[in-house]
Amino acid sequence: MLRELAAENIRNLHAFSVAPDERMNLIVGENASGKTSFLEAVYILSRARSFRTSRLNEVINTAANSAWVSGKLYEQESGKSTRLGLARTHGHTRFHINGQAIRNAATAAQHLPVKVIHPESHRLLTGGPGFRRAFIDWGCFYQDENFYPTWVRFQKLLNQRNAALKQRADSRVMNGIEREFCESAERLSRIRSKYIEVLRHGFASLSTLWPVDAEWELDYRRGWSSERDLRELLLAEREYARRQGYTLVGPQRADLVIKTNGERIVSRFSRGQIKRATVAFELAQIEIFEQGTGRRPVLLVDDMPSELDANARELLMHIFSSASRQCFITASTSNELRMSDDAEHCVFHVEHGRIRKML
Ligand SMILES: Nc1ncnc2c1ncn2[C@@H]1O[C@H](COP(=O)(O)OP(=O)(O)O)[C@@H](O)[C@H]1O
Ligand SMILES: [Mg+2]
Repeated sequence: MLRELAAENIRNLHAFSVAPDERMNLIVGENASGKTSFLEAVYILSRARSFRTSRLNEVINTAANSAWVSGKLYEQESGKSTRLGLARTHGHTRFHINGQAIRNAATAAQHLPVKVIHPESHRLLTGGPGFRRAFIDWGCFYQDENFYPTWVRFQKLLNQRNAALKQRADSRVMNGIEREFCESAERLSRIRSKYIEVLRHGFASLSTLWPVDAEWELDYRRGWSSERDLRELLLAEREYARRQGYTLVGPQRADLVIKTNGERIVSRFSRGQIKRATVAFELAQIEIFEQGTGRRPVLLVDDMPSELDANARELLMHIFSSASRQCFITASTSNELRMSDDAEHCVFHVEHGRIRKML
C-alpha cells in the first residue's frame, strides 16, 4: 500500500505530499480540479505511463519541462517499506527504488501493482483486441514470473522479423528469425492460455459477489489458427507480409472473444450492462491476483458515479471497503460515494490543482 505520495508538475496539480489512508481514499472536487490527475500520479509511479494518454509528456504541466512522482510503499505481507520514484525530463524516464536507479519499469510495477477502473474501461469489451491483450498480460505479469522476460523476448523477435521483412532479407535470415519467433510465440501463448483458464474459474466464483445475469464464455484466440503450425503460416505469409510491412500472424494478434449465451456481448448488452460486466472482469482479475500472489493491488476508480447505477455503485463500495485493499476513488461530491460511518477512510478535496486532506 502507499503510505506517502508526493509529486510535482503532474498536469494542473501543485506540488503535493500526502499520507493516504491504508484503505479508502475518496478524492472529491469540481470538474477540472485535478482529481483524475491525482490518480494518474499513482498510476504513473507503477507503470511509467498514464491510463489517459499514450504520451507521458502530455501529463507534464505545460509550464514545466519535467515532472516527478514519488511514493513510500509498505507491504503488509512482508513488513517491507520501499521508496519508489519516477522522474520524466526531456522525454526520458528515470526510476529509483530506495535511491538506486533501476533500468526497467517492470520492477516498479512489481513493487506497486495498480488496477484502474475509469470511464474508458469499457473498451476492454467494446474496443479492439489490444485492450484485451493488455488485460490478459496484466494478469500474466503477476501470475507467472516467466511472462515478462518471455514477452520482452517476443517483442524483440517481432521487431526483428518486421525489420527483416522491410529490408527484404534473404530466406536464410528469415528462417533463422522465424524459428526463434515461433519458439518464443509458443511460450508466450502457453502462459496466456494458462491464465485464461484461471480467469474462467475466477469468473465463475465471482458471480455471487457481482451478479451478472449471463453464462460467460471466454474464447481465447492465440493469434494464429489452432490447427496450423505457426512456422508454416509465417512462411506462407512472407510475401504478403512484406508488402504490408509487418507480421500478420502470432501472439501480437491474440484476442479474447467474450460471449454470453453464445453471442458476443458487445452486440447483446446495453451500455449499462457493459459497464457492469467490465467491472466484473476487473474484479475477477483482482481476486485472481490476490489469491495467486497473496498480495493486494492498489485500486484506482475514476468517476465512479458516472460509471454505474446506484445499486451497482453501492455494491462496489461495499466490496472495496470490506476487503483490506487500498482504494483511491474520485467523485464530484462525497455524497456520491456513500460510506458507512464506521468505515475507515480519508477524504481529499481537490480545488484548482491543490489537494487538501479533509479528515
Ligand atoms: N499538462 C497539463 N498542464 C496543465 N494543466 C493540464 C495539463 N493537462 C491537463 N490539464 C488541466 O488539468 C485540469 C485537471 O484535469 P483533471 O485531472 O482531468 O480534472 P478532474 O478529474 O478533476 O475533472 C484540467 O483543467 C485540464 O485542462
Ligand atoms: Mg476526472
